[in-house]
Amino acid sequence: MEFLTWNESLAVGVSTVDAQHRGLVDLVNRLHTAMSEGRGKVMLGETIDELVDYTKIHFSTEETYFDRYGYPEAGSHKSEHEAFIAKVADFKQGFEEDRLMLSLEVMDFLGEWLVDHISVRDKAFGPFLNDHGVA
Ligand SMILES: [Fe+2]
Repeated sequence: MEFLTWNESLAVGVSTVDAQHRGLVDLVNRLHTAMSEGRGKVMLGETIDELVDYTKIHFSTEETYFDRYGYPEAGSHKSEHEAFIAKVADFKQGFEEDRLMLSLEVMDFLGEWLVDHISVRDKAFGPFLNDHGVA
């Protein structure tokens, strides 16, 4: 049983971005499964490393579109991305220091990100990019 299920409330309407977001949902599910099977510690390290890669690829996909089409909300949106990058760096440090309850902290943070960032902030640029011919 999946912890999170992809649904339309998360769909932005831009295929590359949606595929990357599905990848994040999948990552959260894998971490959740690993935790419930007592493999949380190993998977946590992999999750954090994947998050580092994810931010590099995924945020640059979104921001390249913003820059190309002059998305008016780009500034505040990029600030949220920067906050995410800082949080992941903090997780990385926490992992190296064996911080207690870190896996729950990561799960909580990613769950909130799906609700607050993807389903609100990211959804907002979907129609804008669609109007510029990006789908
Ligand atoms: Fe975003």
